[in-house]
Amino acid sequence: MPVGHGAIGLSGNIKLPMKKGFGKTDRTDAWWKGPTAMAAYLGFMIVYATWRGFMESDFWIFSEFGASSCANWESATSFHDVTDCQTMAIENQNSHVLSPLYSPLIFPQSSWIPKEFWWMSPAMFILIFPAGFRGTCYYYRKAYYRAFFQQPTGCAVSKPWNEYSGERGILVVQNLHRIFMYIALVYLPILTYDFWLSLNFHNEVTGVDSFGLSVGSVVLLLNVILLSGYTLGCHAFRHVVGGGSNHWTGSPMNRGKYLMWRFSTKLNEHHKDWALISLFWVMFADFYIWACTDLGLTDLVILGGA
Ligand code: FES
Repeated sequence: MPVGHGAIGLSGNIKLPMKKGFGKTDRTDAWWKGPTAMAAYLGFMIVYATWRGFMESDFWIFSEFGASSCANWESATSFHDVTDCQTMAIENQNSHVLSPLYSPLIFPQSSWIPKEFWWMSPAMFILIFPAGFRGTCYYYRKAYYRAFFQQPTGCAVSKPWNEYSGERGILVVQNLHRIFMYIALVYLPILTYDFWLSLNFHNEVTGVDSFGLSVGSVVLLLNVILLSGYTLGCHAFRHVVGGGSNHWTGSPMNRGKYLMWRFSTKLNEHHKDWALISLFWVMFADFYIWACTDLGLTDLVILGGA
């Protein structure tokens, strides 16, 4: 029998009867819709986050927009000299609603950052870790390998490259996912603290502190919920809480781990949804806060306030 499509060669390799040529397939469904929509969605989110990161920096044309930093940093010789520091937060309502792209609150003009990097925006420092976490996420890997790299193009669809070499070479960086997951966990209490801060209004004139709830607070709360659903449903997190136990009922610790594992498993079943919606909401939260600080929108106070 000749070695060819549908035949088993002497080496034992099985050649599947697939059409050859980029995008060629026998599939009759609209297989390309998913990867195309994903490329558009992820592409937009990446462009938006990059734009916002540069927009709040003191760099090239972007400095025209007004940086979220300390006003006199260029003439300052040390971080003691910098004054009038601003960041991306709604403060004109006597509240403090900080954009999640700019949380935790840092200023590049700090003692621990060399002056050569003071032009950068806080987001450029902060986003390294969430970007690393999402970039190495098992779900996102599948999504962007297909959407951007055609590796593969789709199930049973011919791709432009012949070989699959696995996650080797530079892609071994994907193994850092668990490390990024540990760091991502730290962001959750920080973002929760930002939500709590947004409830604490402070009237500069009277000096009175009071409780308040604005639309911005609700946006931050939803952001914490969605990011928690995404992070606590991470495959690596599920392994961490569920691993290392031979039985679930042996001790209170093991029973606690079992409950955590079940909770994580529930979230994990919809990891894709958490991943996509939480990404949208982080960007939306930043957009809302930007609109309230620079584009003339007012953050509506729903309850209390000062
Ligand atoms: S697998 Fe998606 S965040 Fe860990």
